[in-house]
Amino acid sequence: MKNIYLNIFSFNKKTLTKSVISLKKGNVIGLPTETVYGLAGSAYSKKAINKIFNLKKRPKLNPLIVHYINLKTVKKDVFLNESFYKLYKKFCPGPITFVLKKRKKSKIQSSATAKLNSVAVRFPNHKIIKLILKKIDFPLAMPSANLSSKISPVSARNVADDFKNDLRMIIDGGKSRIGIESTVIDLTGKPKVLRPGIISPKVISKVLSTNVNIIKKKLGLKSPGMLKRHYSPGIPMKLNQVSYNKNFATITFGKRYKSYKNFFNLSKTSNLKEAASNLYSTLRKIKKLNYKKIYVVRIPNKGIGIAINDRLKRASY
Ligand code: TXA
Ligand code: MG
Repeated sequence: MKNIYLNIFSFNKKTLTKSVISLKKGNVIGLPTETVYGLAGSAYSKKAINKIFNLKKRPKLNPLIVHYINLKTVKKDVFLNESFYKLYKKFCPGPITFVLKKRKKSKIQSSATAKLNSVAVRFPNHKIIKLILKKIDFPLAMPSANLSSKISPVSARNVADDFKNDLRMIIDGGKSRIGIESTVIDLTGKPKVLRPGIISPKVISKVLSTNVNIIKKKLGLKSPGMLKRHYSPGIPMKLNQVSYNKNFATITFGKRYKSYKNFFNLSKTSNLKEAASNLYSTLRKIKKLNYKKIYVVRIPNKGIGIAINDRLKRASY
């Protein structure tokens, strides 16, 4: 497909340098990660943080995730604890975000963390973002690069579709391998999952040798990102459907579903990992095709299925 956007750049030495210069100036750019694309800016720059919130039209009370290259750099901003080290050793760099207590001396802008005394930190695992983080001496605040409450982006094109030319530069790093956002785990007290992801509570519980649950209730500022309506395609969606209508798009899962024109299979082999990676692109595709309603069949609610159902529920809210 021809690239109709002039702000999408392929990655090379020149665009690496351009990205670094731009970030140092306090500008905001679109970057790929292994989970979803992010809207990146210096976590130490007030100007950059403001731009991120404005571009996304994000409520100011919803804090951003701050991205680091290694332990040495993260130690300057937060207090690390035993649970953190165990999970870090097992999963990082990778699709998991840790909420930790913020150091008083940290240079992270208080607007980035919605004035909380905690910070969500992540170590992304994507060649491009790692090369950029190595060249700068500040961490990157980086929410998913979509308009607030809309579907998260899994390609440079998705990012451009939301922000058009309001964003000067988007680096194309191909389709996001994982396709849904990182698991967010709160480690400021007894570990609890604030947002499910590809790394499930069961696996986390095993690593920590303690039962870790997902908090379901909206606990004021503690889990502000758990806004009920999120990832929304802007079309009515009905979950756990067993009947079909040829006028509605139907999201299916598994080989027993036929390939009708209005059927969109997340994984013909019933693979939840594959389904997660196809979820957002499928929602965007259906929206582009102008369907007025989406039906979704039941998706098994175990392992990665928990994260898929979490996103579907919010998308349908
Ligand atoms: O995979 C990801 O995590 C992607 C990529 C770009 O890294 N980023 C992402 O960021 O999904 P965002 O801003 O769309 O989601 C951040 C989530 C929100 O639910 C937010 O409320 C939560 O993390 N969060 C951030 N800081 C927090 C804090 N201090 N306490 C509790 N939750 C926090
Ligand atoms: Mg988001």
